[in-house]
Amino acid sequence: NKLDKLSVAIDGPAGAGKSTVAKQVANRLNLVYIDTGAMYRAVTLKALRGEVDLDRQEELTGLARQSRIDLVGATPQRVFLDGEDVTEEIRTPEVSRSVSLVAMVPGVREVLVEQQRRLAEETGVVMDGRDIGTVVLPRAQAKFFLTASAEERARRRAKELMDKGYTIDITALTEEIRERDQLDSNRTVSPLVPAGDAIIIDSSGMTVEEVVHRIVAEIKQGEL
Ligand code: DC
Repeated sequence: NKLDKLSVAIDGPAGAGKSTVAKQVANRLNLVYIDTGAMYRAVTLKALRGEVDLDRQEELTGLARQSRIDLVGATPQRVFLDGEDVTEEIRTPEVSRSVSLVAMVPGVREVLVEQQRRLAEETGVVMDGRDIGTVVLPRAQAKFFLTASAEERARRRAKELMDKGYTIDITALTEEIRERDQLDSNRTVSPLVPAGDAIIIDSSGMTVEEVVHRIVAEIKQGEL
């Protein structure tokens, strides 16, 4: 099967629907879904728990190096940090607020990127992140950059969080998303930019089905 060793990169900003779409694409094509954001979140959680100052780049890098992160299954994908299931804990607003700072650290990225490349060597993957098409898997056969307007993304995140029982201030959330985009797009190491050969999809106003269908069609077309 030609799809066995296929690497599919799905990059884009927070709340563009990457994880939902990437999981379904992986499912359709029998590939392993890898949520790289979860890996940055796991290191962030470890730093917050250990009360490591988020400016201490060397300490954060050491922490990343000492962490064992396992991603298990797809729906839902469970995330283990040093053997402990932290799937829910890495999604708290506290982790979301701090993760950009951790993802900015070059040493942390180096450690996690290496792990991500290893995973893609073992098996066919759909990898969801920010720098997959540009840095992690520059030779991926299929690259997508998924976007949506900040308002649309805030609405989607609000719904997700409200379903989990959080009370949401939509204005604050939109602002938080803009701030995070700003940090992610302008950092020196692996800024959030589409790869030159990525297919850009604006998912505002599209259903999940439509986006998944479009991506699967593009991949199949590329394979023929
Ligand atoms: O996709 P997410 O919201 O779970 O990502 C969490 C953070 O990690 C976000 O600030 C961007 C960062 N990230 C990154 O820098 N590189 C990746 N490949 C994935 C996520």
